[in-house]
Amino acid sequence: MAEHANASPFGEHESLDPTQERSRAIDPTMSIVDAIYARRSVRGYLDKEIPAEVLNRVFEVAQMSPSNCNVQPWKVYVASGPLKDRLRAQMVENTVNRVEPNPDYPYRGTFEGEYRQRQVDCAVALYNNMGIARDDKEGRLRAIVRNFEFFDAPYIAFLGMNPAFGTTVALDVGMYAQSLMLAMVAFGIYSCPMGTMRNYPDMVRDAFGIEDETKILFGLSFGYEDTSVPANKTRTEREKISTSVVFRSN
Ligand SMILES: Cc1cc2nc3c(=O)[nH]c(=O)nc-3n(C[C@H](O)[C@H](O)[C@H](O)COP(=O)(O)O)c2cc1C
Repeated sequence: MAEHANASPFGEHESLDPTQERSRAIDPTMSIVDAIYARRSVRGYLDKEIPAEVLNRVFEVAQMSPSNCNVQPWKVYVASGPLKDRLRAQMVENTVNRVEPNPDYPYRGTFEGEYRQRQVDCAVALYNNMGIARDDKEGRLRAIVRNFEFFDAPYIAFLGMNPAFGTTVALDVGMYAQSLMLAMVAFGIYSCPMGTMRNYPDMVRDAFGIEDETKILFGLSFGYEDTSVPANKTRTEREKISTSVVFRSN
């Protein structure tokens, strides 16, 4: 499927000059604080295309993210249309058949104490909204499979970098992802960051004809929210800042 590597489903891309007047002309006026509070993980999307100009613009904005020595290590592969459908079908098939994931980057996912509690609270909030009881094994599998259906998002992005850069540079990719999610919110686009998208990186490499050293860190489903999807009623909470922030002057 390498022939799709250079075929952009979004038409011709604008040059990446962040000061470009034409791009800026379409910018919304939402404040950064409002965007941060409005962002949340959305797990149900409308089958609605994002105008190419808007799509290009949100990625232009995210490109302004900081990085170690400005190396801009993020590599981002966005699938839509038939390519997205193919990836979705392949990933669902693997998941249902319990094909062992082979992530490029390891993920322990085992949290303890207060971290475990937050992990459980988050799952409970989501499963409650999805109507899945604790002992509903089928329901739980269905919830997992929804990830690999990309929550019906018309777009799925895979974010990665060269692992030779090391863990600290991976932080840059995380910062990029937050910039991207916030820029999307300003344009009325919602997303879900997805660690599950690291499960089958060979499929991503094949789909995009990736031949360099890029390894997949995580994914991001995005599009316009379907507000009728019960999972989208999920809201998560945050601890007081004193649980994570220490201010000191001497
Ligand atoms: C790196 C990362 C990976 C995540 N992976 C998944 C995932 O695979 N599936 C999912 O449904 N949510 C995933 N999430 C979403 C988190 O569950 C969510 O951000 C958290 O519960 C806080 O909720 P909020 O995003 O609505 O504020 C992920 C979030 C991050 C930052």
